[in-house]
Amino acid sequence: MDLLSSILVVTNLLFFLFKISYGVLDSITPSQRLSDGDTIMSREGNFVLGFFSPGSSKNRYVGIWYKSIPVQTVVWVANRVHPINDTSGILMINSTGNLNVIQNNSVVWSASTLKEAQSPLLQLLDTGNLVVTDGNSEDYLWQSFDYPSDTMLSGMKYGWDLKRGLNRRLIAWKNWDDPSPGNFILEMTHHNYPEAYLWQGSTIYFRSGPWNGYRFSGLPGLKPNPVFAFKFVFNQDEAYFICTLKQSLHARSLVNQTNSMFQRFTWTEQGWKLHAYLPMDFCDTYALCGAYARCLVTDFPVCQCLNGFKPKSQQRWDSMDWSQGCVRNKRLSCEEKSTHGFLKFSGLKLPDTTHSWLNTKMNLKECRAECLNNCSCMAYTNSDIREGAGCAIWFGDLVDIKQFPTGGQDLYIRMHPSELGSIHKLNKKKRVVVIITASIISGLLTLGLLWRFTWKTTNRRRERKKEDVDVPLFNFTTVATATNKFSPANVIGAGGFGPVYKGRLCNGQDIAVKRLSKNSRQGLEEFKTEVVLIAKLQHKNLAKLLGYCVEGDEKILIYEYMPNKSLDCFIFEQNDNLLAWPKRFDIIIGIVRGLLYLHQDSRLQVIHRDLKASNILLDINLNPKISDFGLARTFVGDESEVKTDRVVGTYGYMSPEYAIDGRFSVKSDVFSMGVLMLEIVSAMKIRKFSHPNHHHNLLGHGLGTIVYMFGGFTFKISNLEMYSSWFAMCPKVS
Ligand SMILES: *[C@@H]1O[C@H](CO)[C@@H](O)[C@H](O)[C@H]1NC(C)=O
Ligand SMILES: *[C@@H]1O[C@H](CO)[C@@H](O)[C@H](O)[C@H]1NC(C)=O
Ligand SMILES: *[C@@H]1O[C@H](CO)[C@@H](O)[C@H](O)[C@H]1NC(C)=O
Ligand SMILES: *[C@@H]1O[C@H](CO)[C@@H](O)[C@H](O)[C@H]1NC(C)=O
Repeated sequence: MDLLSSILVVTNLLFFLFKISYGVLDSITPSQRLSDGDTIMSREGNFVLGFFSPGSSKNRYVGIWYKSIPVQTVVWVANRVHPINDTSGILMINSTGNLNVIQNNSVVWSASTLKEAQSPLLQLLDTGNLVVTDGNSEDYLWQSFDYPSDTMLSGMKYGWDLKRGLNRRLIAWKNWDDPSPGNFILEMTHHNYPEAYLWQGSTIYFRSGPWNGYRFSGLPGLKPNPVFAFKFVFNQDEAYFICTLKQSLHARSLVNQTNSMFQRFTWTEQGWKLHAYLPMDFCDTYALCGAYARCLVTDFPVCQCLNGFKPKSQQRWDSMDWSQGCVRNKRLSCEEKSTHGFLKFSGLKLPDTTHSWLNTKMNLKECRAECLNNCSCMAYTNSDIREGAGCAIWFGDLVDIKQFPTGGQDLYIRMHPSELGSIHKLNKKKRVVVIITASIISGLLTLGLLWRFTWKTTNRRRERKKEDVDVPLFNFTTVATATNKFSPANVIGAGGFGPVYKGRLCNGQDIAVKRLSKNSRQGLEEFKTEVVLIAKLQHKNLAKLLGYCVEGDEKILIYEYMPNKSLDCFIFEQNDNLLAWPKRFDIIIGIVRGLLYLHQDSRLQVIHRDLKASNILLDINLNPKISDFGLARTFVGDESEVKTDRVVGTYGYMSPEYAIDGRFSVKSDVFSMGVLMLEIVSAMKIRKFSHPNHHHNLLGHGLGTIVYMFGGFTFKISNLEMYSSWFAMCPKVS
């Protein structure tokens, strides 16, 4: 080596050292090396690359962290699994472009480029991406964004490069002191219809649901926003999600082993602020409700079988173990596949896509035909909801279905033809109402009433001889004609016991027709007896029974028609006819009068069991009339509390001891009354209410305590006192 070249080498070295010590360097070449203690900094000064020790550990790692953030926040680690135990480590890029972390001449960590470089350069970009380039080429021969640690940064593709078989996934640090891979992983699946999974070890912990054109099906909150833009790319070569910041702020998303969450933070003067996380709620727990069940977080219990399905094991289901899920009421047979139909379910997070198929060209009609034709196909829907295009179909059981109170997607589920008619009508009402199945009714009526009749009938028969109430018996044809053959267009509501139709008799009188679910096991005599009992209950705040109809397994009740429909059409916020407060007060008083009559003043003590806004009808002057009380449980003698294993009613209105243990009494109604009052005074639906700061429904939110106090647990004061407490409350709440 001559003198000149020696001087050149020395000046180069000095210049290099100078640059490193002042942190102005953003790259290194094969002739340079980065020792422990040196750093390079991205051009604008966002990020730094160097050696660090995490938490209280003494181990040394090569990593990238924010330059300007005082708490060292590491976003990428090179030698995660192979720490260096002293400060002798060196990072270098060799002449072909490969990266090596070296300790005492042995390679601790290395990364190889896609192809050999001629004049490689290792550079730290202001995005936090560490890249290897070759000469003047813009292409990256290697980049740290392809091998993320636990953190996703703006501009990082998260998901698959299918051509290279590269899976960009996030793996949590084991703990604060140890960046080696934990068992908590966020990964894009490789399915025909991809979605993201959060894994905890080898079990799925949460899934995002597939992309629907706007967002992942399970993340209805992912919307265009001022902070970041996002997109999902899915084609033959790639399947990835990418987020890019629209503002100059520091933001990072990471998988956190400590609390099993995927979290998104932004930097503020007070530190890192958490502003989004997954899973969001209990219903995000993967497959919590098993197959063919939906999870609605505002419900209690949160899991419900889908319409047309029943718990696989009723006993387990009742003990709140939903893992076995639900099975069809009617089995499907492949030979009859062409007779099958599809039932539309709305507001859902689409089921797990492990066994799915996707065609982005088909429309919904073609999709249906495709699904119908293959009897292992259980459901179909549009894959892109922006313009209702594309076809996604599911094979095998449908698991992990979440129901959203608002938003969510449609799914068409294969059904036995016999399941289509009846449910379809009920489904007309979009509102999330717990539809009580026929079996529950029969259970209630047989259990609740049969034994009573066995020892009371004789007495009653004698009584009835004397004061027989005249309840007209309608024939089925009359009722069918009046309701236009039970046309779906005539459905005006659906209660727990069956759909309600509007009808008009030949004489011009309008009627409301309640068609009880068919497969009730209740006998004819018992039904008639019950009708007579109902007819005896006469009060101006109870809906008046005009007649009934029995034919075959049809059981129908005919009530006077209320032109103003039910209370729910008036009290809720989105309604234009919102009632003034004094009117609301009158309505409350009216309902309470009716209830008091059912509970105390009538000859029978009647517990309604399904008191709710849609069961309160309003006459022309907006006087409230309680309806549906006829199918309630009547009490005899001095019993005051009964236990049932068939809980009927509507979640949200049910008292806890009833919903959980099936114990009911007049107190159950008083509880429901409390809920109803809350709805009337607040104009919010019990099941729709949401508060930005917590997950409670209307009950859990403050006033709930009052409902519990008066309705649920205070048995000692008499009913009258309870009612007057309600009255006392009303003006205050206004
Ligand atoms: C550090 O690791 C090297 C290589 O594994 C080993 O030879 C050396 O003894 C270790 N030093 C200390 C202080 O543990
Ligand atoms: C560069 O490093 C890689 C990985 O350590 C090694 O396989 C390769 O032989 C090295 N190339 C040269 C020219 O030293
Ligand atoms: C993980 O979450 C905990 C609790 O929210 C938080 O204190 C911690 O900083 C998080 N970990 C990281 C790496 O941000
Ligand atoms: C139905 O779809 C499944 C899954 O794609 C496939 O294996 C099976 O061959 C199909 N059956 C028919 C009859 O097309």
